[in-house]
Amino acid sequence: MKILIIGNGGREHALAWKIAQSPMVKKIFCAPGNPGIAEIAECIDIEAENIDGLYTFAMKQKIDLTIVGPEDALLSGIVDRFMEGHLHIFGPSKRAAVIEGSKAFAKTLMRKHGIPTADFKVFDDVKQAKRHIATCEFPVVIKADGLARGKGVFICKTPEEATKHIDDIMKEKVFGHAGDRVVIEEFLPGEEVSILAITDGNTILPLPSVQDHKAICDGDKGPNTGGMGAYSPVPLITDDMQLSIEENILVPVIHAMKRENRPYKGVIYAGLIITSAGPKVLEFNARFGDPETQALLMRMKSDLVPLLVSTVKNTLENTEVEWNDCASICVVMASRGYPDKYEKGFPISGLETIRGMDNVQVFHAGTSKKDGRFITSGGRVLGVTALGKDVSEAQETVYRAIQKISFEGAHYRRDIGAKAIYRKA
Ligand code: AMP
Ligand code: GLY
Repeated sequence: MKILIIGNGGREHALAWKIAQSPMVKKIFCAPGNPGIAEIAECIDIEAENIDGLYTFAMKQKIDLTIVGPEDALLSGIVDRFMEGHLHIFGPSKRAAVIEGSKAFAKTLMRKHGIPTADFKVFDDVKQAKRHIATCEFPVVIKADGLARGKGVFICKTPEEATKHIDDIMKEKVFGHAGDRVVIEEFLPGEEVSILAITDGNTILPLPSVQDHKAICDGDKGPNTGGMGAYSPVPLITDDMQLSIEENILVPVIHAMKRENRPYKGVIYAGLIITSAGPKVLEFNARFGDPETQALLMRMKSDLVPLLVSTVKNTLENTEVEWNDCASICVVMASRGYPDKYEKGFPISGLETIRGMDNVQVFHAGTSKKDGRFITSGGRVLGVTALGKDVSEAQETVYRAIQKISFEGAHYRRDIGAKAIYRKA
């Protein structure tokens, strides 16, 4: 088979790494990819948003299966376009991807179909939004409706703070049209967990639990990022809870999308908060998580390709997936200053010393190559990922590997996995 992966992050590197192990695959292309991916696939210079360019390339190369990483391409209708041309592509249609593209849509869907989530109201008028603030208990959560790269959510402790963010989003349009509407919702205390599932619209195949760490600093302090690290499995999610998430969240949401005439195919990612009243949904994403995918794929024993193929061909009910019983951790090494302004162009050293380490993979995100050397070129630079018999062992291995890698201003969290270890102790 010839495979095309769309995207250029650590998630796409992990997908390429896993797919490259499949005996079914003859050739992998990645658009646009990164220098880490270039070691196992042919990177082509087409951006993820260039749907015409990607379509023409896939047609010309007779690509057997395309896998979409980032949400923007999904929301621009890449899946619809490829399907019109009878090209196999893994991911939801534009109508279905709106579950990530509009928080107001996702929240309204959840309310209508009884899926547990925080209480909320949607506003498209600044004055009404502000009037509502006067009636809220604090903290309150203000969310821009559309895509804002994880930056459009604000937990506000006071009415003044909430009012300022409503103005920024709706009046100043700091997120452009993504801020035409806001969702104002109840703050839910609890630990966050990601549950991803593969679905062909009929069968739902949940993947093991995984926990992202969104805040930049240890102890979940500082501003939110795209994700600074992840581990799997999550001991907080017992087998019973995993089943109840499937029954009360995953099955109803796929059913709801069908009922709304937005049949869903691909990966559905539920961002959950585990409250004292059980798991509730913070958001749905229409794609693989980053860095969740790096941690998950390290644990996947089976070949990923048959799973993706049977999703596209609606035969998921006949597919089994096997997982390694061990634990995995991905720790993101970021550039100094991220998630705000950061410098780039610093040489990365030590990567060659990792190649010999058992159970460790380094997935590239924001890297480039200059004069034959890897240099930093993004906020999240590398996702160092390790396996261990349990989270403690995986944690020890991952941080041992990180000690060997360096670049100017490298910043990473030192507590990825700590919640799991603390819970087990
Ligand atoms: P979202 O993009 O909706 O997942 O929100 C981004 C982050 O904001 C989440 O990962 C949580 O850390 C936090 N958050 C969002 N909604 C809530 C809520 N209702 N209660 C508490 N924290 C929230
Ligand atoms: N890890 C967060 C995300 O992929 O949205």
